[in-house]
Amino acid sequence: MTNRNPGFATRAIHVGQEPEPATGAVTVPIYATSTYVQEEIGKHKGHEYSRVSNPTRDRLETNLAALEGGVAAKVFASGMAAIHAIASMLKAGDHIVAGHNLYGGTPRLFNQVMANFGLTFTYVNTSDPANVERDLQKNTRLVFLETPTNPLMELCDVRAISEIAHRRGAEVVVDNTFMSPYFQRPIELGADMVVHSTTKFLNGHSDGLGGVVVCTKPEQAEKLAFLQKAAGAILSPFECWLVLRGVKTLAVRMEQHDCNGRKVADFLAKHKKVRKVFYPGLPDHPQHELAKRQMFGFGSMIAFETGSLANANKMLRKVRVCSLGESLGGVETLISHPATMTHAALGEEGRRKIGITDGLVRISVGIEDVGDILDDLDQALAAI
Ligand SMILES: Cc1ncc(COP(=O)(O)O)c(C=O)c1O
Repeated sequence: MTNRNPGFATRAIHVGQEPEPATGAVTVPIYATSTYVQEEIGKHKGHEYSRVSNPTRDRLETNLAALEGGVAAKVFASGMAAIHAIASMLKAGDHIVAGHNLYGGTPRLFNQVMANFGLTFTYVNTSDPANVERDLQKNTRLVFLETPTNPLMELCDVRAISEIAHRRGAEVVVDNTFMSPYFQRPIELGADMVVHSTTKFLNGHSDGLGGVVVCTKPEQAEKLAFLQKAAGAILSPFECWLVLRGVKTLAVRMEQHDCNGRKVADFLAKHKKVRKVFYPGLPDHPQHELAKRQMFGFGSMIAFETGSLANANKMLRKVRVCSLGESLGGVETLISHPATMTHAALGEEGRRKIGITDGLVRISVGIEDVGDILDDLDQALAAI
């Protein structure tokens, strides 16, 4: 590498991904080992047991910290395990202000698991920073944000909310799964920690689950390393390797996702069977200006309104290039129905409150030839 600060794609391919010194292998080896031989009591090469540390995992953690611009990263068995670890950094009596429009699994964890351990939660519409300010309490330790939100693609202003939270002694966590560090780096905007479901764009190939927390302070990383050891929800060496392989192409994949995403959003916005499109790249998105300021691209997550459950079902039955299924961020186009899939746990009333209708469809636009995706959506929409 030259003296110039390496760019994003170079860091993705090289940081933590250095050739293996013993053999020169250009890819990081999968250290499939549970334990490590010791020369004498307490004398070892830095690893004792793979729940505590593993060389493949170390490499991935180094890589992801560099991509988000943090001081360290800790990886977990899934995105939910990573969010669980963040909540486990708190103690009974602590309060979290969270977005009201998060991935459904997050409020399920907060309300049905962490609330039993004495954490309290207030859910607010984080698209207006004043709502966050209003609901901060003396015991608020964290503000938990998703931007854009899942599935309604509402944005929140990470810089403004971080300034408010910091003034009141709270830290800000951003779930950056939808954008990946290629299109949005919340730490540069003031966030204290970033979480991802690596299952999505970071892995990129829909072949493994994982989660990561990227930290800005060594104390956060120490607490999370302790939680890896104490609770054990770590990512296996093979799954770490899949993500290391995935991030090598993150930059080119995200460029193509974004290019296809913009074309699909334009097509849906003009389609007579589609009543509304939620995509921050469309000029009529209420936070389009914030999107241009805060993100480096608009990505490929789009939601659109078909009008009813029956309409959604008619179209979803017909898709062929798009695959009907949960998840997002893979090279293949995935299409889903939030009310019965990702947001089923919220219940009808919970969904109604935040505007998730039965006719809403979410699409994670893949990197197939965009003409094929558009033809597929067109023929499927004709069924409505
Ligand atoms: C934004 C977001 N955060 C977190 C998660 C949870 O990640 P995982 O499924 O890897 O546990 C998801 C899953 O869909 C998600 O979309």
